[in-house]
Amino acid sequence: MKIAIILGTRPEIIKMSPIIRELGRSYIDYFILHTGQHYSYEMDRVFFEQLELPEPKYNLGVGSGSHGEQTGKMLIGIERVLKQESPSLVLVQGDTNTVLAGALTAAKLGIKIGHVEAGLRSYDRKMPEEINRVLVDHCSDYLFAPTVKSKQILVSEGISENKIFVTGNTIVDAVYQNLGLANRKADIINRLNLERNSYFLATVHRQENVDNKIRFTNILEGLQEVSKIFGYPVFLVIHPRAKKQMEVFGLKSTEINIIEPIDYLNFLYLEANAKLVLTDSGGVQEEACILRVPCVTLRYNTERPETLEVGANILAGTNPDEIVEKTEYMLSKKREWINPFGDGKAGIRIVHILKSELIEALKYAEVVS
Ligand code: UD1
Ligand code: UDP
Repeated sequence: MKIAIILGTRPEIIKMSPIIRELGRSYIDYFILHTGQHYSYEMDRVFFEQLELPEPKYNLGVGSGSHGEQTGKMLIGIERVLKQESPSLVLVQGDTNTVLAGALTAAKLGIKIGHVEAGLRSYDRKMPEEINRVLVDHCSDYLFAPTVKSKQILVSEGISENKIFVTGNTIVDAVYQNLGLANRKADIINRLNLERNSYFLATVHRQENVDNKIRFTNILEGLQEVSKIFGYPVFLVIHPRAKKQMEVFGLKSTEINIIEPIDYLNFLYLEANAKLVLTDSGGVQEEACILRVPCVTLRYNTERPETLEVGANILAGTNPDEIVEKTEYMLSKKREWINPFGDGKAGIRIVHILKSELIEALKYAEVVS
C-alpha cells in the first residue's frame, strides 16, 4: 500500500501537514509530489522547514502561468511520476490547480483518489477554485468532508454516502499543533512594534479581487477607512499575486502597513492576537473562526458558511462603505462562538480510514485475481 500526496501551494502544505505527520507515525509507505505551483521561499520552503515535513520526493517545478499552461504541465509531470511509482491512492487537499491536476491524472490512470476538504461550495462558477472543487469531488473515491454540511452538499449532488467521511478540517489540527509553539517562538509582534489586540490583520489574493482594478482599489480604500475610523493600524500581509497586481495597476497605499508573507508560526500569532481580521482567504476565514477572532470577508460569497452561521464571520464584499459597516458590526460582537470545524483529530481520522479502506481493497483484489 503506497500513498502519493500531491500538493503545490501554501495552504495545501499547511493543511496536509497533520496528515503527513500521521502517515509517518503509522509507518505507511507514502511520498510527496510537489507540483511547484508555489515556489518562492516564503510561499513554500519555509513551511517544510518550520513544520518539519519530509522533503518532496519529486518537485515538478511547474511554477506560474495561465490556468491551461500551469494545469497542462502538471498533468504531464504527474502522469510520469504516477506511472513510475504506481501508488494505491493519490491524496489531494483543497481546490487549487494542483488538486485538479492530481485528481484528474489519477482518475485517468485508474488510481484511487482521496479528497481532503471535500464538499465545499461557493456556488460561484467564476471562481477557478469552484470548478476545481466540483470536478475533484466528482472523480474522488474517498471524500473527507470537514463538516456535516459539506457532506450534505455532496449527497445532494448525487455522490454516494459510502464514499463520504465527515472528519473535521485538518486546519484545526494545524492550529492546535502549532499555536503553543507560536506563542513561545513568534517574534513578529515585537518586530512590528505592535500591541496585542490593537491592530487589524488583512490578507487579499483572490483572482476575482486583485486582478480587478476597481475591486482591488476599493478594498485598499476600505482598509484605509477602517484604520482611520476605528483607530487601529492595518497590517496587510501581501500575497505575491496581490503585490504583482498592485504594480500592474499602479496602486499605492501609505496608510496601510504592507508586509511580505510570513512563516506559519508568526502568521498564526499575528492572527490570534489581532483585534479583527479582514480577508478573502479560505484558510484565514477558518483560522480566525477557530481562534475566536472576528472576521470580515472581502467577498460576496463563501464556501465556508459555517463561519457565518456561528457568528464568527460576515461577508462585506469589496465596497469601502460596506467594509466599514461590517467591521463595526463584527467589533461589537462577543467572541463566544463554537468552532464548527472539528476537534483537531481530522488527520488521524483520515489516515485511519485510508488504512482500513485500502487494506480491505487490497485483500479483495487478491481474492478476485
Ligand atoms: C493559488 C490558488 C488559490 C489559492 C492560493 C493560495 C489556483 C487556481 N489558485 O492562487 O486557490 O487560494 O494559491 O495562496 O490554483 N507567485 C510568486 N511566488 C510563488 C507563487 C506565486 O511570486 O511562489 C506569484 C506569481 O506572480 C503568480 C501569482 O503569484 O503569477 C499567482 O500564483 P498562482 O499559483 O497562479 O495563483 P495564486 O494566486 O497563488
Ligand atoms: N499564511 C501564512 N503566512 C502568510 C499568510 C498566510 O502562513 O503570510 C497561512 C495562513 O495561516 C493559512 C494559509 O496560509 O493557513 C492560507 O493560505 P492562502 O490565504 O494563501 O490560501 P487559501 O486558504 O485562500 O487557499
